[in-house]
Amino acid sequence: MVFKILVVDDEESVAVALSRHLARDGYQTSWVKSGEEALEKLFQEDFHLVFLDLFLPGLAGISVLEKIKAEFPEILVIILTAYENVKMAVQTMKMGAFDYLTKSCDMEELRVLVKKALETKKLRKEVKSLRAEIDRHQEAMIIIGNSPQIQEVRHLIQKVSEIDHCTVLIMGESGTGKELVARTIHRRSARTKNPFIDISCSALPSSLMESELFGFERGAFTDAKNRKLGLIELADGGSLFLDEIGTLDHSMQAKLLRFLEQRSFRRVGGIKDISVDISVIAAANNDLRKMMEEGSFRHDLYYRLNVFLIPVPPLRKRKEDIPLLANHFIHKFNQEFHKSIKRLHPSAEQVIMGYNYPGNIRELKNIIERAMIMEERDVITIDSLNLFKPPGTDALDLQHHGLDHMMGEEKALNEKLPLRELERQYIISVLKETDGNKAQTAKILGIARSTLFKKIKEYHLADNDE
Ligand SMILES: Nc1ncnc2c1ncn2[C@@H]1O[C@H](COP(=O)(O)OP(=O)(O)OP(=O)(O)O)[C@@H](O)[C@H]1O
Ligand SMILES: [Mg+2]
Repeated sequence: MVFKILVVDDEESVAVALSRHLARDGYQTSWVKSGEEALEKLFQEDFHLVFLDLFLPGLAGISVLEKIKAEFPEILVIILTAYENVKMAVQTMKMGAFDYLTKSCDMEELRVLVKKALETKKLRKEVKSLRAEIDRHQEAMIIIGNSPQIQEVRHLIQKVSEIDHCTVLIMGESGTGKELVARTIHRRSARTKNPFIDISCSALPSSLMESELFGFERGAFTDAKNRKLGLIELADGGSLFLDEIGTLDHSMQAKLLRFLEQRSFRRVGGIKDISVDISVIAAANNDLRKMMEEGSFRHDLYYRLNVFLIPVPPLRKRKEDIPLLANHFIHKFNQEFHKSIKRLHPSAEQVIMGYNYPGNIRELKNIIERAMIMEERDVITIDSLNLFKPPGTDALDLQHHGLDHMMGEEKALNEKLPLRELERQYIISVLKETDGNKAQTAKILGIARSTLFKKIKEYHLADNDE
């Protein structure tokens, strides 16, 4: 990057000498004779640094400084005057000048100062972009929603994050925000500066899971050429997030239970007990209680984890949060896609409100993301939503089995229909086409027969209902 410097001085000899000198150091320089010219130039071109003489004809240097700081606060200004004047120096520094030099200073001093100024500028820019990064991160951590259910979740998060050393169990359907809850607990707690380590229990087979969690000693098995620390050890001082805990097999359940009870463990192949100070946050999207009753999840582990339960409700049980969430995602994707979509069109909002979100908030987020990619106007209209298919129709080729087509003569794709209604009509039309043949209907819809039966029941489509 080439830095651009503007010299403002009515004494041509000084201005030219200074510009040439700086140009030799690789800076791009320009000079002007008055404050008025300086401001005009700054409006036309981007500069990083300005050398400003205080005694100028016309607009006084001090007023030029004031204007520069008001209009271009990013630009660094170094004051250059013929006479040493401490009072003036203090005043200009207070007004935001970077430094103050007399024209009798030696060139080396000046070069060092320029270098320092521009480094400061680079640092400021880095700090600014880091701040923006942090803000983005924090923004992503906001739990949106006003429903009593989500307020209760927030209340529980607040309570548990005040406690050190907690064990929390977060339960909810897929996409309801369990991970967001876990991260928020960590961020609000006193452990926030220490690591938050997350592991998805379903990602690894049990044999690897053990060494991933507890680590191993050198020589513990053939490939163990060096000691490796496990995630539990890496989380020391912080929080360990065990996602999809219901997928752990019996032997890992037993090992995890032992760790939770003793808060110490041995690395695989090790003989030493290692203690750690961690909060454990577990999440499950399946019915752990049912798994426990069926015998696939240990009672003792269930109760050990269930010290503090945070149930995260599905989106269809808190529909009043949908518009808030939708707006939140519109804002988020505006920033990401450099768009300026204002809101949902009322008819699109009606569709969004009518849907029942089996994939919960993640699904709503995806729907908005996709609509925002499609949308060319500044509101999300029903047109950019109507590409998405009723659940279970993924396997269909919509070119041939498109909704319009399936609705036949009725041309019934009334744009104001909520999605559930669309889905219901779609199923009815396919059932009609197949003369009520459920197997064939399920095949055309691309869903399991059991799902079709569920839908038929849900929408009261049993023969006598139609
Ligand atoms: N209340 C909320 N406010 C804002 N964003 C949310 C909220 N709840 C969830 N999200 C967002 O929805 C997405 C899904 O959330 P998250 O990954 O936490 O769900 P999950 O319950 O862990 O899902 P899964 O069971 O599939 O792992 C994320 O992008 C998350 O930031
Ligand atoms: Mg998750």
